[in-house]
Amino acid sequence: MAQEFTFTVNGVEHTTTENKPLLRYLRDDLHIHSAKDGCSEGACGTCTIHVDGAAVKACVLTTALASGRNIVTVEGLPEDVREAFVYAFGAVGAVQCGFCIPGMVMA
Ligand code: FES
Repeated sequence: MAQEFTFTVNGVEHTTTENKPLLRYLRDDLHIHSAKDGCSEGACGTCTIHVDGAAVKACVLTTALASGRNIVTVEGLPEDVREAFVYAFGAVGAVQCGFCIPGMVMA
């Protein structure tokens, strides 16, 4: 029997038998695309998410290591928090192309 890895993403429990980078699981399996793949090796931070309340790079964490943890992406932040970041980034003109903004917000 295959080992199962269960964790919570944005308040919803998910289980997988595949041990792979959490970033790939979030993007490819759950279709959560806020966490971006900028380098795949823990250097750039575009994939930053929260794991048990701490900022973590999703590309270097695996589904096995995420087992039992509480994961939050930008999509899981409360609406008022997201609106505060939208206002703050807009107010100072920090819009850029948007690719890395979710990682900045979670960091
Ligand atoms: S994709 Fe660059 S740190 Fe994760």
